[in-house]
Amino acid sequence: MKAHYENKDMTEQLPLFSVDDVTAASKDDEIDKRIQLISFRELVPEIKDTRYLTHAIFYYPAKFIPHVVRYALGAFTKAGDWVVDPFAGSGTVGVEAYLCKRNAFLLDLNPLLNYMIPLKVRTEKERLREDRLSQILDGLEKSRHHFTPAWSNIAYWYPPEMLETLSSYWGFIKNSERNAYTAIIESALLKVSKHFSYAEHRTPKLFRSKSKRKYVEELLRTDWVEKLKRMISSHSLETIRNLNDFATLTSHHNSCVEFKGGVDSSYYPFQQEFDALITSPPYLQAQEYIRTAKMELFWLGSDDEEIRGLSRLEIPYRKADRVIQTPTLETIRTELTRTDLIKLLDSYFCHTINALENSMNQLKVNATACIFIGNPLIDGIKVEIWRILMEYFTNNGYFFENLYEDRIKNRQLFGTRKNKNPDGMKSEFLLILRKGQ
Ligand SMILES: C[S@@+](CC[C@H](N)C(=O)[O-])C[C@H]1O[C@@H](n2cnc3c(N)ncnc32)[C@H](O)[C@@H]1O
Repeated sequence: MKAHYENKDMTEQLPLFSVDDVTAASKDDEIDKRIQLISFRELVPEIKDTRYLTHAIFYYPAKFIPHVVRYALGAFTKAGDWVVDPFAGSGTVGVEAYLCKRNAFLLDLNPLLNYMIPLKVRTEKERLREDRLSQILDGLEKSRHHFTPAWSNIAYWYPPEMLETLSSYWGFIKNSERNAYTAIIESALLKVSKHFSYAEHRTPKLFRSKSKRKYVEELLRTDWVEKLKRMISSHSLETIRNLNDFATLTSHHNSCVEFKGGVDSSYYPFQQEFDALITSPPYLQAQEYIRTAKMELFWLGSDDEEIRGLSRLEIPYRKADRVIQTPTLETIRTELTRTDLIKLLDSYFCHTINALENSMNQLKVNATACIFIGNPLIDGIKVEIWRILMEYFTNNGYFFENLYEDRIKNRQLFGTRKNKNPDGMKSEFLLILRKGQ
């Protein structure tokens, strides 16, 4: 694995570069020298499938491809190091860190993180038994309990008979002893609870569609309970096998993956330092992660009030508490005519930078920050997020080391878009900054 990261072209370091050090004329040349067109998939060929091991147990919008994280871990950290991800999402950094014997500290506003990590990063070494799983699965049908989410408009999302059956299965699981087996079945229930609902299940985004309504109506005319049971079993079996493979592969690993979901990383009171930051901030125009995960959160026990509270902390609904100023951002502000979009931009950069900066303050001197981000269009104007972050951070004690540009192949975003490049993005960028003294 290491051989790929030692490829001279990729890791040969140019002298550290602070934007303030050079004249405006040579600045662009200096920056251009540090932009490298690469393909993370080709750079990390040992990862053949983005869904390998436990990465695909849960849907999550705008997940990292694991190749990016594996590359950054190999190039900028060593075994035993601590990595922080303030926008951890579904925890790709945690999974890859554990596989590579690094420690990880993960934060996310979305409480789903607390639920996903214990399953995706299995630290127990003993093998889970398929016969034990099957025994528990048999209990679903005999459930004498019910659990109905505290969701005021749940009837909008489910036909009554599907809600009744799902509620009894969830009631059984919630009243069973909590262990890896029940967690596996719960992850399968999350998937089927979306599939057997009016919500479009082929995308993470939560919405009803005519075609889904038609699909459900047709399902109801068939033996849908049998199909539901088969799906729960096959999801659960696939997951137990992935967990066992993960445990086998990491049988001698003992690193630590800590996580806190449901927190705003802008204000998190860290108690430790880190050797690297690896993260991918929310998208500029698609940041409704809590709304997207609503159905899952309700089934897991959240209520309207909790979800409303978290949604309010999402970037599009928060006012900027300071105005970020960088040359590129200033130019975009003057080009944009719509005041609502200027506000969106201000809010986006204020809160994204607040969260990044709070974590980056905990980096050791010389530690690397690896930030994976796109180049969206806003009202037809390109917003080079990497450049704005580079300008801000090089003005605040960091050096710009490199920029890797990767052409987008496929990243599952919020909807079924024909255009896989959201907001006109053609590439994604890994910005590498190094902390100064
Ligand atoms: C692009 S996603 C990260 C996906 C992640 N890299 C993965 O592989 O699953 C951005 C994440 O930022 C989180 N987020 C947005 N604002 C936040 C904040 N203020 N504090 C913590 N997390 C936040 C969202 O909930 C979302 O999960």
